[in-house]
Amino acid sequence: MLSTRDNDLLIQTGPGTPLGALMREYWVPVARSAQLVAGAAPTRIKILGEKFVGFRSPDGAVGFMNEACPHRGASMALARNEKCGLRCIYHGWKFAPDGELLEAPTHPESAPLNRMRTGVRPAIERQGIVWAWLGKGQPAEFRPLAFTDLPDDHVLAATAVINCNWLHPLETLWDVFHAQILHNQTNRRSVRAGAYFSANETRMAGDIPFNYPELTVERTEYGFTHVNSDAAKETHFHFIMPFIQHHTVTPGIRDDKALQISVPIDDDHTLLWMIFYNRYGPLQPNGFAMQGFGSLPDLNNFLSEFPVRTAENRWGQDREAMEKGESFSGFKGNTILETIFLEDVGCIESQGRLDRSKELLAPVDKALIEGRQTVLDAIEAYQSGKPPIGRDLDLSGVEAEFKVKTQAA
Ligand code: FES
Ligand SMILES: [Fe+2]
Repeated sequence: MLSTRDNDLLIQTGPGTPLGALMREYWVPVARSAQLVAGAAPTRIKILGEKFVGFRSPDGAVGFMNEACPHRGASMALARNEKCGLRCIYHGWKFAPDGELLEAPTHPESAPLNRMRTGVRPAIERQGIVWAWLGKGQPAEFRPLAFTDLPDDHVLAATAVINCNWLHPLETLWDVFHAQILHNQTNRRSVRAGAYFSANETRMAGDIPFNYPELTVERTEYGFTHVNSDAAKETHFHFIMPFIQHHTVTPGIRDDKALQISVPIDDDHTLLWMIFYNRYGPLQPNGFAMQGFGSLPDLNNFLSEFPVRTAENRWGQDREAMEKGESFSGFKGNTILETIFLEDVGCIESQGRLDRSKELLAPVDKALIEGRQTVLDAIEAYQSGKPPIGRDLDLSGVEAEFKVKTQAA
C-alpha cells in the first residue's frame, strides 16, 4: 500500500513533476524508425505529456521537435518537409533536423537566428528506434543496453499504445504471480523444457493449480533485480531505471531475448515497446521473436489486429470462449504471445487510474513493492541532487536469465 502522495509521484510524468524531471534525464525511445518516412508529413507524437512531431527529411535525417512552432505556435504537423528541414506554413520559419534555425522570414536578414530557441530536440537512431533527448542542457552519452550495439537484423522493435499509466505494464512484469493464474493456459505450453508445476502443486484457484515460488529481490546500481524460483525454473529479471524491464522468455542461451520499455505518453496512456534481440545472429523465422511478432501486419501497433479495447466491450474479452471452456481468461490471440499480451492489457487497462493506497498486497507482491520503491527512491535521490540512477552506466551486459531446473514430466 502506498500513500496518496507516493502514488501521485509514481503516476505523474508531465513537465514540472518530480518523476517527469527524472525521466527527462534519460534518452527516451519515441518512435519506430519506420514510422518516419523520408519527405513525408511530420508525425504527431506525445511523450511525457508534451506534444512533439517527428519527421525525416528527404535526405533521410531524423528530426524531433515541439509540435508548436516557436514563432507563434502553429502545429508543425502542418509543416512542409523540405530539403534539409521542416518549414512552418504560417510564416515560413525553417528548422534543420539538427536544431539550426535556417530561415525566419519575419525577421530582418541581419537578425541572429542562432540565438533563437527552436524547440528541436536531439534525436538519434539505433536498431530501428528513434531516441530523443527531452531534458534540459546537453544530452547525456547514449547508454549502451544489451541490444543497442547489435546489427539491425538482430533486433525487432514493436510498439503499441496502451490505455493506462506507464507503470502498469512494468507492474505486471514485477507481479510474477499473476502468470500462474491469468496466463495459466499459455504458460504451460510455452515452456518447452519443463513443466511449471511438477513437485509442489500445493493450491488450487478454481481448477488452476498454483504454488508460491520463492522470490528474492535486490537493488542494483541501475534499478533492481528479482528472481522467481519454483519447482521447475528460476527466472531472473532486471529493471533498469527509468522504464526498462528485461524479462525471460525462453531458457536457451542462444535464444532470442526480450525487454519491454514503458514510455509515458501522458499519465493515462503508454507507448509500450516490445524489443526482441539475439546476440548471436540475425533473428530467425523459427525463433521466439519472429514466431511471435514476425507476421504481424503493423509493428507500429502490434495489437492492431484486435478490436479497440473499451470498458463497454470488456477490453475485447470473449465471454463465449470463456463459457465454452476454450479460454480461462476469455482473451485469445493468434499466437501464445498475443494471447499473453491481450490478457495483460485487458487487466491493466481495466485497472483505470490506480489508487495504490487502496490495494491489499501480500508477500507474493514482493517484487512489485520493490519496483515501486526503487522508482520512489530514485526520485528522492535525484531531487536531493544525486545523478540519475544508472544513467551513466554501460548496461550492455544486463539481461534476464532463465534456468530450467527439471525436465518435463
Ligand atoms: S507560427 Fe510558424 S512561422 Fe509563424
Ligand atoms: Fe502477464
